[in-house]
Amino acid sequence: MNKQVIEKWIADAIDKASFDEPLLSAVKYVFSTGGKRLRPLMFLEAYALGGNEPNEAVMNFAVAIECLHQYTLIHDDLPCMDDDELRRGKPTCHKKFGEAIALLTGDALMNLAFTLMLNAAKNHPKAAEAAYEFSLLSGGSGVIGGQARELCAQDFKSEIYDIYRKKTCDLIWASVLAGGIMGGLNKKFLDGLKEYCFNFGLAFQIYDDLMDLAEKGSVPEKSYPYIFGTEKAVEKVKICTQKAIDALATSGINSKFFEELALKAAGRKV
Ligand code: IPE
Ligand code: IPE
Ligand code: MG
Repeated sequence: MNKQVIEKWIADAIDKASFDEPLLSAVKYVFSTGGKRLRPLMFLEAYALGGNEPNEAVMNFAVAIECLHQYTLIHDDLPCMDDDELRRGKPTCHKKFGEAIALLTGDALMNLAFTLMLNAAKNHPKAAEAAYEFSLLSGGSGVIGGQARELCAQDFKSEIYDIYRKKTCDLIWASVLAGGIMGGLNKKFLDGLKEYCFNFGLAFQIYDDLMDLAEKGSVPEKSYPYIFGTEKAVEKVKICTQKAIDALATSGINSKFFEELALKAAGRKV
């Protein structure tokens, strides 16, 4: 599956969502600033491992995943959270549309994600189960829980793995698990993919921190490179990448996509 196909499905879903202004402009803006569409691509790869071609329900589920991801970033950038002015080199949603509209744009995208998943459930027998698992992993005991813990952590060092696992790995695993469930993968494959996702996710987040350091010259105090230093961070990325690739081999998953993705995240922009 290539990214361009996903872009087309995203554009169609936004058109059909009939958002009121200024939400529509804000959503279109957010999607126009780029982004790798990594999680829908991972979802579709997991689905494809089951040997089926994606239908409309599957593609809309992929779009839903990206909508949820974009909402996490809009909220993550808000002044009350990371207070970032730029994302992907462009003004963040709140810089462009104001804080209140950015908050509501995030809300609307989270809501749209579950609208799309529930709609997919009308036409795909496994979409409801996939959406249920996805809602848990992206919620208060997963991604949102991790974000909250990061904000409040008194002793970040002792919680860092738990926090990274929740705020970053859980959304990656949620996407792959949903694809695996809808694609009918067996337990051995799902276990292997879970191990892959948690190692890949950790490498991905630490590498993202390192890129922030390279671009901005500093990283937040609550980040792996700040706590452990650059050298250890680079080493950790390598170790986790290898573990991710090993997990594929151990469980008999033959996916060039997942293998190459792990390697890219460890050293280059994906
Ligand atoms: C950014 O994710 C948030 C992290 C978990 C580090 P992505 O790097 O996947 O964001 P896109 O590609 O800009 O959407
Ligand atoms: C983003 O974490 C994770 C989520 C939004 C859940 P970061 O704050 O480390 O990522 P960037 O650097 O803003 O993309
Ligand atoms: Mg941030």
